[in-house]
Amino acid sequence: MPGRPDMGGRLVVVSNRVALPDQTATGGLASAMRAALQERGGLWFGWSGKVARLSGEVHRLRDGMVEYATMDLSRSDHDEFYDGFANRTLWPLLHYRPDLVDYNRKHLAGYLRVNQLFADHLMSLISSGDIIWINDYHLIPLAAMLRERGVRNRIGFFLHTPLPAAGLLIALPLHNELLETLARYDLVGLHTPRDRRALEEYFLHELGATMRRDGHIRTPDGHSFRAEVFPIGIDTAEVAQSASHADEHEEIHDLKQSLEGRALIIGVDRLDYSKGLPERFLAYARLLERSPQLHRMVSFLQIAPPSRGGVPEYRQIRRELERSAGHINGMYAAPDWVPIRYVNSSFPHSVLSGYYRAARVGLVTPLRDGMNLVAKEYVASQNPEDPGVLVLSRFAGAAQELGDALLVNPADTEEVAEALERALAMPLEERLVRWRRMMDVLERQDVTAWRNAFFRRLVE
Ligand code: UDP
Ligand code: G6P
Repeated sequence: MPGRPDMGGRLVVVSNRVALPDQTATGGLASAMRAALQERGGLWFGWSGKVARLSGEVHRLRDGMVEYATMDLSRSDHDEFYDGFANRTLWPLLHYRPDLVDYNRKHLAGYLRVNQLFADHLMSLISSGDIIWINDYHLIPLAAMLRERGVRNRIGFFLHTPLPAAGLLIALPLHNELLETLARYDLVGLHTPRDRRALEEYFLHELGATMRRDGHIRTPDGHSFRAEVFPIGIDTAEVAQSASHADEHEEIHDLKQSLEGRALIIGVDRLDYSKGLPERFLAYARLLERSPQLHRMVSFLQIAPPSRGGVPEYRQIRRELERSAGHINGMYAAPDWVPIRYVNSSFPHSVLSGYYRAARVGLVTPLRDGMNLVAKEYVASQNPEDPGVLVLSRFAGAAQELGDALLVNPADTEEVAEALERALAMPLEERLVRWRRMMDVLERQDVTAWRNAFFRRLVE
């Protein structure tokens, strides 16, 4: 393959969520890893997504060049590790919500226990030349646990969420013990320069680490690692190709027909409080309030597959959105017009790319997001002759690369409503210029470039 670095050993990807071949990958990490692994091949190890009587039963599966190994979790491991420490402690803190952080020590113990279980299983799955790539906040201490077991392979870590500044990170229970384990990786990857600065600041000021001249961060107990920025991409060519064939899908035909010529605004997000959905609904309501001429002329489709239903905050956001969508539709709907179509199911990429292309506006307004692949998929799906407009939160990692979107503060209802108005009225020439510049970035920095860049650095 031209341009492919000589990357030696087998790639072993480890992540809590694994997208098995027949599953819809809702979640950026699984979408990206699937694309990255499909081309290069390797082993993907993680949670099976199943709760069983006992943790640890491993299922193996091969699909082309990718081998999958997934393990079940017991009810208590699942509740304490996944619903507990990962998604009620780390996730809210990493998304700047210290008010939601849970301090239950049982959850922390479960988190460490399941990480040990990952380490135990990996010992029988890896060989000495393998390059190990561990992903996301569920598995922060895994390298340290592998090192304790004598593993000397190259091990990289990628954080797919934002990393807040040290002043906030210290709100994490036992933050020192947990975060210092990052130094047992050879390379830590982050999405944006802001995240990297936060990591450096934390290590230097909270842990007393020093910055070596060669760019390694060195902890007082002598471990050193590099932390670098690798903004994750999508399979741009594949998404564009899939979108250009979208009309072959019945779902796309049905959606277009139901629009009866109205402009479509689309949002696609896991049902997660970090995605800014209540704020987004309010901004759309504000648009309808300030622009009566748009009534019956627009339709907002929000796709929001449920996520992490074992966590109370996720159940609550679901109830809140049902109320809000009902309220807005009650205020503005007409017998032949529903302002918000709120859909709680998930769709495969092949269908999503057609929905994106049918939409005049992509509305992507997370309050915080590591990257946000939906923003990139929306852009890559557009018709090059008549592209739509992306309205994007400044607080998504993607805003660093997609400066030609209309950038907004998602909490500022008026600003988002204005951006929607502007997007709906934007002339073709301006849409073309903005889209082309964004597409250039996505073509250059696609998921293959991301994987190769991280990998090259890891094996160096
Ligand atoms: N996704 C999907 N089907 C759906 C909803 C989402 O395949 O019904 C995918 C979406 O296409 C994207 C990923 O899930 O690839 C979401 O990634 P993103 O980075 O936007 O957010 P995350 O869920 O990782 O926080
Ligand atoms: C985010 C996280 C991923 C996670 C995904 C879906 O993208 O960074 O690690 O896989 O959300 O969430 P879930 O809890 O369903 O795996």
